[in-house]
Amino acid sequence: MLGKFLDKFLDENLQGLQDQGLFNEIDVVEGANGPIIQIRGKELINLSSNNYLGLATDERLKRIAVDAVQEYGVGAGAVRTINGTLDLHVELERKLAEFKGTEAAISYQSGFNCNMAAISAVMDKHDAILSDQLNHASIIDGCRLSKAKIIAYNHSDMDDLKRKAEEAVKSGQYKKVMIITDGVFSMDGDIAKLPEIIEIAKEYDLITYVDDAHGSGVTGKGKGTVKHFGLEKEVDFQIGTLSKAVGVVGGYVAGKKNLIYWLKVRSRPFLFSTALTPADVAATTAAIQLITNSTELVDRLWENGNYLKGGLKNLGFNIGNSETPITPCIIGDEKLTQQFSKRLIEEGVYAKSIVFPTVPKGTGRVRNMPTAAHTKEMLDAAITVYEKVGKELGVI
Ligand SMILES: Cc1ncc(COP(=O)(O)O)c(C=O)c1O
Repeated sequence: MLGKFLDKFLDENLQGLQDQGLFNEIDVVEGANGPIIQIRGKELINLSSNNYLGLATDERLKRIAVDAVQEYGVGAGAVRTINGTLDLHVELERKLAEFKGTEAAISYQSGFNCNMAAISAVMDKHDAILSDQLNHASIIDGCRLSKAKIIAYNHSDMDDLKRKAEEAVKSGQYKKVMIITDGVFSMDGDIAKLPEIIEIAKEYDLITYVDDAHGSGVTGKGKGTVKHFGLEKEVDFQIGTLSKAVGVVGGYVAGKKNLIYWLKVRSRPFLFSTALTPADVAATTAAIQLITNSTELVDRLWENGNYLKGGLKNLGFNIGNSETPITPCIIGDEKLTQQFSKRLIEEGVYAKSIVFPTVPKGTGRVRNMPTAAHTKEMLDAAITVYEKVGKELGVI
């Protein structure tokens, strides 16, 4: 009988979402998530994946994953601290540390999971966390889980950060204070002001935490935003995901040996959730090696990003202030943004609308994620569709 309260809760809230036009119907991709995808039987140019380097469908990685399944099976069989640590995991973590220029690294089952794990393993109710207002949901949830005081600062506003850092430290209320930022902000494509952040961190003795989910494999010739600024020795926690540019799944922390030892004994998803599968780990390790060996894919990604940005800008679209291949097309009004994206999809371009509450009210956008796997022909075709829909809906 208690179920009736659940039924009431679900009925009311689902109806509420429907009424506000916020109910998200999930599109099902029928096949691989490459530069062209099929949805409801229709082929579309895909500008919505995070598969920046096209590695999710890379033939070399597919073969390596299949070989790992043949040799190790489909699952790791246990959590890392019992006997789920395969030699494959150790090799991946060695490569990740090398890739990030740190002493050691630890991998997790996802980037989301990694933030939940790492923040709460180090911070607690006696501490405070200075967090950029636009940080990713997994950072916010990780901060909440830690029970530390969360002090949000205005997006990339260094004066606000400095003021709040000084207040927090001088109050004497907190044992430790951490600053957390995305390396690349995925809604706008802008890069965190890491040199200034590190300066403030040094002045006030803050722990530094950079989640470079959208920077690794993209900025710093593929090595990420911390490397882009040459700050490998200054950042305590370098976080990355293995699911975006790396093309597979998983997350990691790279840092000093002692930090990684601590995370191995205290971060809960490492202790209480089964390890990444052999196929994931083998493919990821090979992907990191590919990115390390050559900048070919990274260069192509930037070339494609610049090409798409140039094309949309020339048509008169507002593409914001992206410093990376992420190309927002800012429409403003939420309903118009959704209509715009729907029309793009009807015309053969899959670029999803992103509206409040994911971005501030009145800044609805269609976000484009070009990848290294797109051809110029695909990007030209997408730009032509943008022109048609933009004129039709009065956006340009
Ligand atoms: C900054 C940031 N951190 C973490 C994640 C989560 O990564 P994953 O998809 O690997 O769980 C994302 C994904 O969008 C992200 O943007």
